[in-house]
Amino acid sequence: MTEDWRGPYMVRGKFMKVLVLTGAGISAESGIPTFRGSDGLWEGFRPEDVATPEAFQRDPALVHRFYNERRRRLLSPDIEPNAAHRALAAFESQHQDDFLLVTQNIDDLHQRSGSQKILCMHGELLKARCMDSGECFPWKEDLGLDTPHPRYPNRLGRLRPHVVWFGEMPFGLPTIEQAAAQADLFLAIGTSAVVYPAAAIVQWTGPHCHRVEINVDATPASQAFQQVIRGKASSEVPKFLQEILNAAQ
Ligand code: OAD
Repeated sequence: MTEDWRGPYMVRGKFMKVLVLTGAGISAESGIPTFRGSDGLWEGFRPEDVATPEAFQRDPALVHRFYNERRRRLLSPDIEPNAAHRALAAFESQHQDDFLLVTQNIDDLHQRSGSQKILCMHGELLKARCMDSGECFPWKEDLGLDTPHPRYPNRLGRLRPHVVWFGEMPFGLPTIEQAAAQADLFLAIGTSAVVYPAAAIVQWTGPHCHRVEINVDATPASQAFQQVIRGKASSEVPKFLQEILNAAQ
């Protein structure tokens, strides 16, 4: 720990309202590459070729292929939650007051660990969305131009990955804004803080909020945090959350 975090933002040694934001760094040790690392998830693709509405209009097969590969990889048996995902779920089950986990990740590793109050602001890879009605369906198969609609089997190719592309509005922004304004503790884990509006959440927290960043590297947002923990999520997140729980005893 770089700084003593016991301060006026705690009530009897306890943070009441806790908001957590996670990014690709928390899943890196589970075998899912980050976006901007050297072996980045964009894997030689330019985001604008595979992660925009325009790309999907231009070449839906390419976009489907990109997400199909990621979905298959996510479902492979060697991908599983790590100690950081598990620690967040355990913390949530022990924390008696408000808790919200906002993730930018489209993997399901938080859900697999048992996290309950989770808002997937960039969508979920294991869901498909009807482009006509907006209805979402749990989805583990490949998607393609000939995929039948689950309700109307004659309608082909009307499903898209339930993910937020560049230029689209992330999910749940009003909820996130409200949770940020009320948070006593804001914890940002494994995010590079370059993609907005997620990168702005730290700015939405109030003056009473204790802001903590856990990341292996510095980010453009590091200065907005009172406490910066440099290290891997799998070791630092369980340690930090345990200290918080101990202090609340
Ligand atoms: P990035 O790939 O931009 O950043 C990952 C961050 O995790 C970096 O700051 C790394 O230093 C850090 N990191 C890597 N390994 C770590 C570890 N073991 N422990 C802790 N930190 C680690 O991923 P995001 O910030 O999640 O959006 O990217 C944000 C958004 O950009 C994504 O949700 C995605 C992408 O474009 C959309 O697709 C809409």
